[in-house]
Amino acid sequence: MTTMGETLPEFFDPEVLEEPFVWYQEALARGPVATAGGGAVHLVLSHKMVSEAAGRPDDLSSDFGAMMRGARADDAEIARVEADGWPQVDTMLTADPPVHTRFRKLVNLAFSMPRVNAMDDEIRAIVRGLLDSLVARESIEMVHDFAVPLPVAVIAAQIGMSPDDAANVKRWSDAFADRLGGMATREREIECAHLVVEFQQQVKRLIDARRGGNGPNDLLGAIVNATIEGERPLDDAEILSIVQQLMVAGNETTTSTIAGGLLLLIQNPDQAAKVRADRSLIPNMVEEMLRLLSPTAGLWRVAAKDMMLGDVAIERGQIVMLRFAAANRDPAVFPEPDRFDVERKNARSHLAFGRGIHMCVGNMLARKELAVTFEELFARYARFELTEGANDFRHVPNRLLRGLAALHVRLS
Ligand code: HEM
Repeated sequence: MTTMGETLPEFFDPEVLEEPFVWYQEALARGPVATAGGGAVHLVLSHKMVSEAAGRPDDLSSDFGAMMRGARADDAEIARVEADGWPQVDTMLTADPPVHTRFRKLVNLAFSMPRVNAMDDEIRAIVRGLLDSLVARESIEMVHDFAVPLPVAVIAAQIGMSPDDAANVKRWSDAFADRLGGMATREREIECAHLVVEFQQQVKRLIDARRGGNGPNDLLGAIVNATIEGERPLDDAEILSIVQQLMVAGNETTTSTIAGGLLLLIQNPDQAAKVRADRSLIPNMVEEMLRLLSPTAGLWRVAAKDMMLGDVAIERGQIVMLRFAAANRDPAVFPEPDRFDVERKNARSHLAFGRGIHMCVGNMLARKELAVTFEELFARYARFELTEGANDFRHVPNRLLRGLAALHVRLS
């Protein structure tokens, strides 16, 4: 790593991305906006500037869907596969107002606080079922044995799929993520296209079963039947795209917070002891985990016009990345930013869910899944420990997301 005065190394270098925290501090000390990708990307770092940038959707567009759909959008074979499905519509994450506004209003109805609170029992039953299945194991690989299946099972249940279908939900979610990642081979892209169409055809049947207020009153039912005066209800292609986004945006992020959060507790036994003694600290502990882990570490924007961000001039069409993970360790807002403090007064001021019109629509659901998970872990186990010699603490390589690839633990 560099010292002040030298040029900072390339931010997107895999080794910097693996452990970016010294980089953030050195870059933040120089200014709120840095560059990455050989100068091609403006990286917004400070809490103040990320908040400001997230609040200027007219200047900084989220219409980066085409950028993420990758180079194979024109492939004839893929087009042939996709002809059996529904068109991909830019709905929330990659849409700007006024298109975004309509989708967001309708989807907000499905994620209201009373609706999410009503999911408590079901989420707890899923958490308990997963923990029951781990009882006999001496060493648990927390990521794949628990943290991956949990959000997948929750979303599967909420769209009306049986527990047996959870494996399909995972296969589909991986396909969406691989497509967005833009690094898949042509063979994998074709496979992903088949999986997306398979997803669409199965979920279409579930949509039909809920039309007109019939069928279960689950999350999918709420989306299908969401109505707002003056707005047309969502059509099939739009609903399919929304459900797809819920899986892409909700699964890996929740997984990473569970695994990374457990590691924080193991590495900070004094903090774990505080929570064990007073479980009412769990909600604030979850906020502090989200702050430090920032699983959605950064997201793209495209400058819609020539503009200024602080004293940095940005030209129309240039790529900007909001680096939520850097903002969440900004010492101007969070004293001793690298310290895990379950009683931190302003932990909830983090930007792990973003800010402004795109702020995570699933944030209450994610918070609920995390709180229930840690309540159940503390209730069931007296000790959380690492499995000796089994961990390398590496993260899955990704420019946008950050999460442990594996975490081997003993729970006793
Ligand atoms: C710990 C877990 C999670 C984290 C850290 C997270 C993070 C984020 C962030 C940072 C954004 C803002 C994007 C932007 O500004 O461009 C976002 C948006 C979004 N999230 Fe989450 N998320 C999580 C869980 C979930 C869950 C559980 C769901 C749904 C089941 C979900 C669905 C979405 C959707 C659909 C959007 C787009 C909203 C919009 O553009 O209006 N997320 N999330």
